[in-house]
Amino acid sequence: MNPLDFSVEELDRLFTLANDIEKNPAAYAHACDGKILATCFYEPSTRTRLSFESAMTRLGGRVIGFADANSSSAAKGESVSDTIRVISCYADICAMRHPKEGAPMVASEKSRIPVINAGDGGHYHPTQTLTDLLTIRTMKGHLDGFTIGLCGDLKFGRTVHSLINALVRYPNTRFIFISPEELRVPDYIIEMLKEKNIPFEEVIRLEDVMPRLDLLYMTRVQKERFFNEEDYVRLKDFYVLDVAKMTLAKEDMLVLHPLPRVNEISVEVDEDPRAAYFRQAQYGVYVRMALILTLLGLA
Ligand code: NCD
Repeated sequence: MNPLDFSVEELDRLFTLANDIEKNPAAYAHACDGKILATCFYEPSTRTRLSFESAMTRLGGRVIGFADANSSSAAKGESVSDTIRVISCYADICAMRHPKEGAPMVASEKSRIPVINAGDGGHYHPTQTLTDLLTIRTMKGHLDGFTIGLCGDLKFGRTVHSLINALVRYPNTRFIFISPEELRVPDYIIEMLKEKNIPFEEVIRLEDVMPRLDLLYMTRVQKERFFNEEDYVRLKDFYVLDVAKMTLAKEDMLVLHPLPRVNEISVEVDEDPRAAYFRQAQYGVYVRMALILTLLGLA
């Protein structure tokens, strides 16, 4: 499952289902009775893995898996293709996170069961994007016509890459990329935006663009993808969203963040009604429930 696997109409059905699950959880409590989800996480994760596990458990299904490559046969040298062939015998659906870009895709080609990409290196993170889109759609009522500021590590942040790829499909989206020079959005994304004639700007100062934003997507500087500690230390606190900066924003601007947060949003902003990041985490469970049901053909 990758960002563009679903059409806009299919995404809409998925979000409507997620909203129904939110309103009516009891109606879905046994929807996956007897089904098994395998979570294969070759890279650290808290919320993505646990939200998948919570989603399957809330649907009445069961979960097996590993949370650390060292405790799987990858440590013995097994390929993801072989691992997934075997897991296909044990589970009905699999969520896979891997440090190598494209690994979940390779696995899905050899798999008899649906494989969901739960993050592949600095590449994509499609289920976080589903979470982001569901949050925006539920809180704002639509997904088109927004000026969205993406701020922080736009180079290594896979959630950013997936979200841009998804939002280009909604009319009148305008992107403002806010990052230090070293952490700019990758060229292949800039090329794609130019090709599609989607308006975008690249800026360094958050304050300058704040008043124009409908949505602000903050991100953490991705420490684990840096080649040297010195660069990370220099860039990690480049942006700190605080109450003073929030006074520059529209009254109905939403602040999103995939979490985990480090220093890029000060905790005082959590009390602001525009801070949507903890609700986002909650929506992550509903959307993964909807995704599991859809991929298992149970929706
Ligand atoms: C993100 C990720 O893993 O890429 N986290 C998440 O899944 N919620 C963002 C991050 O780690 O910064």
